[in-house]
Amino acid sequence: MKLGTPLSDSAVRVMLLGAGELGKELAIELQRLGVEVIAVDRYPNAPAMQVAHRSHVIPMTDPQLLNGVILAEAPHIIVPEIEAIATEVLAQIEAAGLAIVIPTARATQLTMNREGIRRLAAEELGLPTSPYAFAGSAAELAEAADRIGLPVFIKPVMSSSGKGQSMIDALEDATNAWTHAQSSGRVETSRVIVEGRIDFDFEITLLTVRSMRDGVVVTDFCAPIGHRQVKGDYVESWQPQAMSPAALTAAQEIGRKVTEALGGLGVFGVELFVRGDQVWFSEVSPRPHDTGLVTLATQTQSEFALHARAILGLPVDVSQRDIGASAVIYGGIDAVGIAFEGVAEALTVPTADLRLFGKPESFERRRMGVAVARGDTTDQARERATLAASRVRPVKG
Ligand SMILES: Nc1ncnc2c1ncn2[C@@H]1O[C@H](COP(=O)(O)OP(=O)(O)OP(=O)(O)O)[C@@H](O)[C@H]1O
Ligand SMILES: [Mg+2]
Repeated sequence: MKLGTPLSDSAVRVMLLGAGELGKELAIELQRLGVEVIAVDRYPNAPAMQVAHRSHVIPMTDPQLLNGVILAEAPHIIVPEIEAIATEVLAQIEAAGLAIVIPTARATQLTMNREGIRRLAAEELGLPTSPYAFAGSAAELAEAADRIGLPVFIKPVMSSSGKGQSMIDALEDATNAWTHAQSSGRVETSRVIVEGRIDFDFEITLLTVRSMRDGVVVTDFCAPIGHRQVKGDYVESWQPQAMSPAALTAAQEIGRKVTEALGGLGVFGVELFVRGDQVWFSEVSPRPHDTGLVTLATQTQSEFALHARAILGLPVDVSQRDIGASAVIYGGIDAVGIAFEGVAEALTVPTADLRLFGKPESFERRRMGVAVARGDTTDQARERATLAASRVRPVKG
């Protein structure tokens, strides 16, 4: 693909489906290469819209509206940033040769449903995963939990960021878990996955990049990213996560197999559980990963720069330059047009840097920004990032 001039006949047009904080950083990287960026999301002034050439506000789960926007804009490349998209439209667009879907339409379909990606990983590819079953009612859920063995995690098959998830260690909580999943999952299906708990030492995101080099697709791995989750949502991450050579080899093997099966070009966030030399596949995002925000501070090319280059068919460099960490800044309040106090104090923390996403509306548990920092060790970097994040105080604007 030949790069051109935005807003002219030679422009390479990239459409982002989902315009959040990850899309914003990607849009900035694409802008740097003179790509014409069109951002789409379901609410106005979403973060990536603020740095795109144009934007559209539609519910991306509506096939007709999604199809209409794609046909009207005629992008060369479509980059989904979230899972809640009418992916059948992407399949049609790809089949008709109208645009390249990143990484592939099939990958977006498989990963938007936990059942699709879990069956591919465990049953087709033979990757180690937690024991699991799918359930379509509270009774089936209880039966699956009993068979797998408590404790179990229950997750709506269509959900992300911990929504509708719970862990139970008694069978009498099965009905509550079912009800919770129904109230918080996406509407399309009421199925849940029931997963046995993996007693891991730590969990990682292995950013795996498929890119073109000398006319062939190559796979590269970023240094593993450790992270801490609270209620299914990431609160801090660091890079590198120390792990045994055997575990790293096993992790890369899993990353290679699952991304090869999904195909296409770009960054994938392969989520893995690690205990000693043992590694389990958990799930994969066919796109940059929220825990990978740390790469803004650590890598020669952040996961967003890597994604931009890879999807354009350009070579990438996954090398890590520094040890670093990221810490999430939550809204803390429910308000529109918030302001941030303590930014200057946060930036006096050595090596600290901030991203304030510019989301028009804040919620108590909405991610509104992130602090990143470097250090001589991941412990030092984590302390710095967490301290910087804690100094930023969202207030009514
Ligand atoms: N089977 C399991 N055993 C142990 N811990 C688990 C298991 N499943 C989930 N978890 C924990 O819950 C977190 C969230 O689970 P998962 O990644 O499946 O959900 P998610 O909603 O897709 O979250 P996100 O969108 O933030 O990645 C995991 O990162 C892990 O900490
Ligand atoms: Mg996850």
